[in-house]
Amino acid sequence: MRLSVIGCGYLGAVHAAAMASIGHDVVGIDVDEQKVATLARGEAPFFEPGLAEILTEGIASGRLRFTTDMAEAHGADVHFVGVGTPQQKDSHAADLSYVNGAFDALIPYLRPGDIVAGKSTVPVGTAADLAERVHPTGATLVWNPEFLREGWAVQDTIDPDRLVAGVPSTRSGVPTKDGDRAAGILREVYHPAIAKQTPFIVTDYATAELVKVAANAFLATKISFINAMAEIAEVTGADVTQLADAIGHDARIGRRFLGAGIGFGGGCLPKDIRAFAARAEELGRGESISFLREIDAINLRRRDRAVQLVVEALDGSVFEKKITVLGAAFKPHSDDIRDSPALDVAVQLRGLGASVTVTDPAAIENAKRVHPQLSYVEDRDEALRGADAVIVVTEWDEYRRELAPEHAATLVEGRIIVDGRNCLDSAAWRAAGWTYYGMGRP
Ligand code: UDX
Repeated sequence: MRLSVIGCGYLGAVHAAAMASIGHDVVGIDVDEQKVATLARGEAPFFEPGLAEILTEGIASGRLRFTTDMAEAHGADVHFVGVGTPQQKDSHAADLSYVNGAFDALIPYLRPGDIVAGKSTVPVGTAADLAERVHPTGATLVWNPEFLREGWAVQDTIDPDRLVAGVPSTRSGVPTKDGDRAAGILREVYHPAIAKQTPFIVTDYATAELVKVAANAFLATKISFINAMAEIAEVTGADVTQLADAIGHDARIGRRFLGAGIGFGGGCLPKDIRAFAARAEELGRGESISFLREIDAINLRRRDRAVQLVVEALDGSVFEKKITVLGAAFKPHSDDIRDSPALDVAVQLRGLGASVTVTDPAAIENAKRVHPQLSYVEDRDEALRGADAVIVVTEWDEYRRELAPEHAATLVEGRIIVDGRNCLDSAAWRAAGWTYYGMGRP
């Protein structure tokens, strides 16, 4: 099929390349000339395992190209829109200006029968408004949210857990004729996943929009729940990691996303729960999800707690102490530093007068741009040299598996390790002479 993908950021670039890799003829369109040039060379503009390979392959096969010219969307059977919906500067609500801009630019090129598939994470109600704008062209809007995780984006796009299609429906929620047709076309687009019996949920616009934010709200809630238990563990001497293992054995609960530590960050969970809460307020249902504000608050408190642990470990003050911060990305396998708890901790420690050195296998360049006041060292061992205390804030394998506590001990001044992600083998670190501090652990 012929596809266009409007917006070549994280979501769009991966989507375009992944769709070409499953056999479609794809044009990726973005207003950013530099990004388009990078992608057209087969280079990934950000760190994402496997992306450069499928970009190169797609371009070489002639099935994938990138342009800044919206006119090239004309003639595609399906137009995916995956532009960003950042948090507004002066509120928690989502900024829809990129979505509106993309639709303004696309609408003149739509033909009757075309499908427009919205993928951006939007406040519930947006798709219905956009559908009214698309309607006069004879094209059909579907809402097809994306659940990809950074670091697994290629796999999540080609082989997702589930596919969701919000289609035009009657007031009782039954797809209209156009809705049925649109769902059928999306099934063709995602044929390899459909062939593998991936659940394909056809629903109305509002449900499709809500699936996305509800999923992220649930994940954030799971993380903050276990972090709240960490706070209780801290005053009772309990171990939150053992607690998580034990409750996680209950299949109704499950162990995944019960990793207590310095909490969640990134470009999705924090902004999405805030935007969802803001939207619920607008709808007069703020109280229904007011707990999300608490989820956010618990999450932010864990960063402060990590800082406090370092201060306590250094006998009450980090002033002029040399502290090595292992990690900058909001999670491993990513160079993304948006709302990174890791960097927040580093900035706070510096604010308390510490001499902070940050290292990360992938995110240093991005971190430097946003926090130029911090010192960065690429080489992990060099970063550790002479440290009075070390804090792990991103659980890269380089720190979790590959850093032997005996070796690290030869580099530092003080054998104090704060494990902000509960990712280290505490017994091994203690055996090597370190004083180990976990999050919510004795
Ligand atoms: C998330 C959702 O998982 C994805 O489905 C959605 O499409 C976009 O948002 P992503 O932001 O890539 O994906 O990261 P994710 O792997 O979900 O991690 C989010 C944050 O939670 C990270 O900062 C991570 O370190 C933190 N986290 C995750 C925990 O603190 N504890 C856990 O147990 C799991």
